[in-house]
Amino acid sequence: MIKFTIQHIKDLKFSKKPFPAITAYDYTSAQIVDEAQIPLILVGDSASMMVYGYDTTIPVSMEEMLLIVRSVTRGAKHSLVVADMPFLSYQPSIEEMLKNAGLFIKKGRASAVKIEGGTHVAKHVGALVDNGIPVLGHVGLTPQSYHQLSGYKIQGKTQKDAQKIIKDSVALQKAGAFGVVLECIPNALAEKITQEIDIPTIGIGSGKNCDGQIQVFHDVLGYSASKPPKHAMQYDNMYTSVLSLIKKYKADIETK
Ligand code: KIV
Repeated sequence: MIKFTIQHIKDLKFSKKPFPAITAYDYTSAQIVDEAQIPLILVGDSASMMVYGYDTTIPVSMEEMLLIVRSVTRGAKHSLVVADMPFLSYQPSIEEMLKNAGLFIKKGRASAVKIEGGTHVAKHVGALVDNGIPVLGHVGLTPQSYHQLSGYKIQGKTQKDAQKIIKDSVALQKAGAFGVVLECIPNALAEKITQEIDIPTIGIGSGKNCDGQIQVFHDVLGYSASKPPKHAMQYDNMYTSVLSLIKKYKADIETK
């Protein structure tokens, strides 16, 4: 089994089939994903909801993210691990961002970081890359801007918004990002961006014509009490299965 590097992920742009990526938030799930030979694991700030029980990605802190990044990298021996920079860990200043991203790389042992935004974070991407930290971009629906976007909605539906997302993706590529997540944009727009830029696009809720696809671990397994988003690829209902096993355990103990 190969150990995936940034170059391997970039090369996947030119492979004949789309590649899978998925989130993971702990040692065991990272081991499973790694054994399944998934090229890229994102320790997403979706951990804010999936692990810590907050209502959006906004509250999760650097400390909370660092703990789980460390456990995921212990479990992932082959997949490339990308750590998601939480809200306000990179926006305030380049210095603060480098310190926080450095923690993910040095202490968390991640190989790269992800930040949300386009043209306005190109400078941030450039500074990270110049300092040896690979960056995955993220445009379209950027959940850390939940309030600014007035909720989770498809982005890029108007001509003007679509043009901005294209411009943002190109800016990220120019700044040195090794790939870009396209979240919840129209399929045709995702396809256009995928054709226009030379780095891999990784779609979520953006149609099947991206270079790769990413999903949230809990959504794929149905491992959450709340309803997954429409675009989730749910293969099981593990919440119900685990609940019935735990109930069985309870009953066994109670009946000696
Ligand atoms: O935090 C996350 O899980 C993400 C993916 C949905 C791309 O950003």
